[in-house]
Amino acid sequence: MMTLFTEEKDIQGMREAGRLASEVLDHVTPFVKAGISTGELDGICHSYMRDVQKTVPAPLNYQPPGYPPFPAAICTSVNDVICHGIPGNKILKSGDVVNLDITVITADGYYGDTSRMFSIGEPSVLAKRLSQITFECLWLGIAQVKPGARLGDIGHAIQMHAEQAGYSVVREYCGHGIGKVFHQDPQILHYGRPGTGEKLNTGMTFTIEPMINAGRRDIRTMPDQWTVKTKDRSLSAQWEHTLLVTEDGVEVLTWSLGSNLPPDCVKGLNFRPSNSKA
Ligand code: MF3
Ligand code: CO
Ligand code: CO
Repeated sequence: MMTLFTEEKDIQGMREAGRLASEVLDHVTPFVKAGISTGELDGICHSYMRDVQKTVPAPLNYQPPGYPPFPAAICTSVNDVICHGIPGNKILKSGDVVNLDITVITADGYYGDTSRMFSIGEPSVLAKRLSQITFECLWLGIAQVKPGARLGDIGHAIQMHAEQAGYSVVREYCGHGIGKVFHQDPQILHYGRPGTGEKLNTGMTFTIEPMINAGRRDIRTMPDQWTVKTKDRSLSAQWEHTLLVTEDGVEVLTWSLGSNLPPDCVKGLNFRPSNSKA
């Protein structure tokens, strides 16, 4: 199933969901410091969603076929964790890097999905560069989005940039259509060939969320059946936005005051941040 949003009320609903998801990241940012546990970060995000925003965390008890229910409100992926890290009693320490991935469901039933990287203390040169290259990959993907472009154009732009930097693209997980459900068609692969794949149409909403490894692309899944790590224990980074295909380009739905501006390598991009209030 794939959704095309053509009605203003749906687009406003997706803007609100996107902004709220991003605002959870803004809220938790000052707490992402050495000495805090990933479980505490989960609690801070969950309380903010429930008590302040009146949103519901989509990950909590989320159970795709073949998985146990996800036991927390957010994903916390530290160092060599690629994605779907389960928050727990792990204490963050100086030199760690962590991805916080937030998905909210609004009262009207719309989903917003976004993630950012955070460094604890001073990151290593490698961690800093991996995070920056991955952020650029996200935005080079976003820059491809407009009506008539193809999914392969997005994947290719991301793959080229990651591999030119000497990094690898995770293949097993991808971006996804999103709307009034969490994960739906189309799959947004973070690798591919230009001019191939489905054509983008105005009104489509989907995520781009490249997972880039400093070493090889191979993965291993932990016995908890959720946490995905690099097989070679190399660092992994990820950034994610939820997007709307507009008549003349792309709107970044998961936008808020704390969002990072696009990197220099995509300056001149015809993108619109969503700044709508509820
Ligand atoms: N937010 C993740 C994504 O970007 C999905 C997390 S599913 C969970 O698609 F169950 F692990 F939370
Ligand atoms: Co996603
Ligand atoms: Co996500």
